[in-house]
Amino acid sequence: MARQYVMGIDIGTSGCKTLIIDQKGQVAAKTLEEYPLSTPQPGWSEQDPEDWWQAVRATVRRTLTNFEPRNDIKAIGLSGQMHGLVALDHDGRVLRPAILWNDQRTGKQCREIHDMLGGVDGLLKLTNNQMLPGYTGGKILWLRAHEPHHYEKLRKILNPKDYIRYRLTGEYATEVSDASGTGLFDVRARDWSYPLVERLEIPKDWLPRCYESPEVSGRLTAGTASDLGLPAGIPVAGGGGDAVVQTTGTGLVEPGILGTTIGTAGIVAMALDRCYANPEGKLQVFCNTMPNKWHTMGVTLAAGGSLRWVRDMLGGAENEVAKWTGVDVYELFSQEAARAEPGSEGLLFLPYLIGERCPHPDPQARGGFIGLTLRHNRCSILRSVLEGVVFSLMDVAELIREMGLPIDQIRTSGGGALSDLWRQIHADVFGSEVITVSGSAEGGAYGAALVAGAGVGVWPSVEEAAQVVTAETRNTPIQSHSAIYRRLFLIYRDLYAHLQSSFHRISDIYA
Ligand code: XUL
Repeated sequence: MARQYVMGIDIGTSGCKTLIIDQKGQVAAKTLEEYPLSTPQPGWSEQDPEDWWQAVRATVRRTLTNFEPRNDIKAIGLSGQMHGLVALDHDGRVLRPAILWNDQRTGKQCREIHDMLGGVDGLLKLTNNQMLPGYTGGKILWLRAHEPHHYEKLRKILNPKDYIRYRLTGEYATEVSDASGTGLFDVRARDWSYPLVERLEIPKDWLPRCYESPEVSGRLTAGTASDLGLPAGIPVAGGGGDAVVQTTGTGLVEPGILGTTIGTAGIVAMALDRCYANPEGKLQVFCNTMPNKWHTMGVTLAAGGSLRWVRDMLGGAENEVAKWTGVDVYELFSQEAARAEPGSEGLLFLPYLIGERCPHPDPQARGGFIGLTLRHNRCSILRSVLEGVVFSLMDVAELIREMGLPIDQIRTSGGGALSDLWRQIHADVFGSEVITVSGSAEGGAYGAALVAGAGVGVWPSVEEAAQVVTAETRNTPIQSHSAIYRRLFLIYRDLYAHLQSSFHRISDIYA
């Protein structure tokens, strides 16, 4: 059989990744291009959709440079940062910079939406999710209140990757996983929540048509195809929101396997075979990339971000050594942390350095070291940071367990998964095997390619596409370490409740 290929394009927060995989799941070519992010006011986070498009053009062209079998590319799959608002006018022109997932300006609008529906429970009945400040729904209301000159011209709203779809195919379309993250979507019905949209007085025709993730949503137009160097008419599949589709790319297609990602943020996720209720809206329950499957996740805001803070603020010596020896600075941190005992002699790190989203939706939460003594040294401080981040993942995982979902295995990905020590701490704290798999380093682009391939018959289904994924590393829990972590986690879990009012009083002084 002739080889078949699929292209995946991911519109991330720091850059765009384009890759091509074959039907065995091997990466044949890939390219990355960065773009800027602007914070015009504290707590705001914006990007110019034109920068995404130029990065797509650059990466697609570069990925194709030495890739001959272009006619064997069967489909394009899209992945992207979720929850962003791209506002378009009547002619499909971008009205203002996109407002991103990590933008915090809409607290007031989210409260208004909850109040309008008689509280969070009212919204949970319609969408099974609360309206978090990063979500699209609050941003539309913010635009109405603060930029009426843009609001009056608004005719279509799109998520970041769906804007790229519009440029590739001319279609206004999205798919169920990213639509879930707008906060305007009834994830049980896998359709827009029209009662909510009406209540918020958002015209229905502003919403893009919604497909299942593997479905073909349009085809590459002739003009764009010749600009990019691709054959015209290639099907563009729905794809997925990055936090969902990257779990598909690590083979998370059945309940029982927990996916964790230690990137800047930490993501803890599981595939669901039905739409579970989301008590108090603490977790995010979204449609999965597989029709008839769902996805739950909780996001902690400073996972790898905590270690980056250590690198930038405390890592002067390690940064110098890394510069002179060429050894990665994070590897040096791991070597030092490995010298401390599991449990860091009772030193606990709280990673709420930029507030928290899950399990404590609290922008005023603050980080901390608890339990310091004269015996603690650099090694134990570093180890406690690695441990505290894993405790915060465990805190989210407990919510998933409480839904009645056992955890049989953990698949971890992201920059944190490169550290053997961090993976071992992960296995010891969770008391479960932790594995990494092929493709997990490629993020959303890889999962989007699998989903698109399943949509055009390269694989019979998304579940079967995900079988291309193979295990790369395995860490099994060390019982004596797990025993100490079990005791410390119970203490860690109580600390937020004990400190919450102090956090708020501190942050009120500096508000
Ligand atoms: C998911 C989330 C992030 C963004 C950024 O809810 O907020 O993962 O999708 O990539």
